[in-house]
Amino acid sequence: MLDALQHPAAAPPGRQIGPMAPVVAIVGATGAVGVELLRCLEAREFPLRGLRLLASARSVGRTLPFKGEAIAVEELTEASFEGVDLALFSAGSGISKRYAAAAVRAGAVVVDNSSAFRMDPDVPLVVPEVNGAALASHRGIIANPNCVAAIATVALAPLHRAHPIRRLTAATYQAASGAGAAAMEELRESTAAYLRGEAYTPKVLPHPYAFNLFSHNADVDPDNGYNGEELKVVAETRRILGADDLPIGITCIRVPVLRAHAIALNVEFNEVVTPEEARAILAAAPGLRLVDDRAANHFPMPSEASGQDDVLVGRIRRDLGDPSGRSLALFVVGDQLLKGAALNAVQIAESLLRR
Ligand code: A2P
Repeated sequence: MLDALQHPAAAPPGRQIGPMAPVVAIVGATGAVGVELLRCLEAREFPLRGLRLLASARSVGRTLPFKGEAIAVEELTEASFEGVDLALFSAGSGISKRYAAAAVRAGAVVVDNSSAFRMDPDVPLVVPEVNGAALASHRGIIANPNCVAAIATVALAPLHRAHPIRRLTAATYQAASGAGAAAMEELRESTAAYLRGEAYTPKVLPHPYAFNLFSHNADVDPDNGYNGEELKVVAETRRILGADDLPIGITCIRVPVLRAHAIALNVEFNEVVTPEEARAILAAAPGLRLVDDRAANHFPMPSEASGQDDVLVGRIRRDLGDPSGRSLALFVVGDQLLKGAALNAVQIAESLLRR
């Protein structure tokens, strides 16, 4: 159980923010997701009364742009949350575990982008289009899901609501951004070095990244052979869909793409579901855009999903691996930094605003 929740200052269940516009803190403001959080707040005209940008001591002296102003980055300390109503954390799970309780004690609601609290039964794990109602039970901390789980469930949930899913197989093609700003820079630098014919020694990721792909860099469980990313996606997808026992097989791969994750999904339902019906369900679902043009061979691509709020879905077809007709195959691509992280966090925050 979470310290923050045991503390007498933990928020009452479902506390909203307001009625005054909140003071917002971004923890990890200089990171790949932090910068997108700032952009999302600005682009969506999120009402705020003050903004505090927090990062490590290394970033003190830097400024980041927000609504035409240069805002100074401050060093994160336990005292940083004084007067803060909403704290958006994106500095890794160690920082969240260390500082989220301090933020809640100071009276802030925390939306945490790390994996620190995602499987805590007292912390809702939320994709607003899918299980926004779970926000009502928060006690000060709300978990923002793993990027693959968030992107996949936007497409899986409407199908699951119409026809319960009974088994899922996924293969991911994950972008550099999921490993942070330094990994994105490594992809750029190593690609440039490759093209110049120069040697490049990887510093952030464990393998050469230019013109290569490799099994996700999370640690591998020596007993079952699954890496930490795969296990997170399985557990979180089940939790978000409210399908605790859903059998899920998954392979997570890091590909040399900057910021959008692609996911191939093979979905087995309890009953026959036609591609036409699935297409109609997905076309009407929030947060999704159908890109499914067989004649033009035009389907979801990272280059078209990057910078977009919507998750792209296409290649909707019968899974020929299941002769019963109960299985469909589809391909989903979403911006890892947006729906997979910052946008989802800001959408959660918007749901908390007292209107
Ligand atoms: P900093 O830039 O000062 O290191 P990314 O996921 O792109 O790697 O970004 C990680 C974010 O987490 C950055 O904003 C980084 O700040 C921040 N961060 C890392 N370590 C700490 C720390 N000890 N205290 C506060 N922020 C941290």
